[in-house]
Amino acid sequence: SDETFILTALHGDGDRKTALITLNRPKQLNALNDGLMDQLGEALLRFDADPAVGCIVITGSEKAFAAGADIGVLAQHDFISAYTSDLITRNWEHIRRVRKPVIGAVAGFALGGGCELAMMCDVVLAADTAKFGQPEIKLGIIPGAGGTQRLPRAIGKAKAMDLVLSGRMMGAEEAERAGLVSRIVPADKLLDEALALGELVCALGNASVIAAKECVNRAYESTLSEGLMTERRLFHALFGTPDQKEGMDAFLAKRKPNFAR
Ligand code: HXC
Repeated sequence: SDETFILTALHGDGDRKTALITLNRPKQLNALNDGLMDQLGEALLRFDADPAVGCIVITGSEKAFAAGADIGVLAQHDFISAYTSDLITRNWEHIRRVRKPVIGAVAGFALGGGCELAMMCDVVLAADTAKFGQPEIKLGIIPGAGGTQRLPRAIGKAKAMDLVLSGRMMGAEEAERAGLVSRIVPADKLLDEALALGELVCALGNASVIAAKECVNRAYESTLSEGLMTERRLFHALFGTPDQKEGMDAFLAKRKPNFAR
């Protein structure tokens, strides 16, 4: 169908803009169907490839970031159809391929696939109304887009087990204490704060931003020695960029840096 499930816009005053992606199936609390995930994946890859974009923000509505995979669709599947169609998860790898920072701005429900989508973002800002959970167990299934893997890495085994086994929700305060979100902001300031963070990132040197993200992500995919070596290589490599000269010249001259696009 040609239905649109997301809205996109560019924000900011600088050379590089923050791309805002708003999940937009409000009546279904942004339940994630294939159409929405296809459009989200396409938008992410397009913005990642666009030199005029420095950072991406994903948000939902006031009531829901996303209430999970579309249960109406899930209910129609059996094992063979789920397995052979790579149900729901087939287009979820796109977000992992994005090299620019992705900020998740979460208000209301982030449940099931919605919580998993939030965890795929590099930074999660939570409105005080945010509620996170992996309620799949209550439907007779388990998380299918990384919930059982990213949650323990983010908040530890004890709390991850608590959430995944019970299906209960946790509020913004608990999520911040546990380390799932970087900070809590008032709901009516959520988008402003996310776009302000985006603008800060957009003003930085693109190569150093991409290197920073790459290195932090390596921490989850490698031994400490390998991760430290990746960091050291990229640290040295950045001394070959004009941004390193500009950043340090500007500091020493007590002026603002003007990083190249
Ligand atoms: C389809 C959904 C939905 C979902 C909500 N809706 N969540 N439709 N899939 N995941 C629909 C409702 O059916 C309802 O439609 C409308 O959105 C509003 O929801 P209500 O339930 O009336 O709102 P409320 O009483 O405020 O309760 C909110 C809620 C509840 C607590 C978030 O909707 C809920 O429990 N939703 C399901 C959450 C869930 O189990 N998510 C995990 C899904 S499995 P109508 O037409 O009645 O107005 C999953 C697997 C991921 O995510 C696998 C890999 C991606």
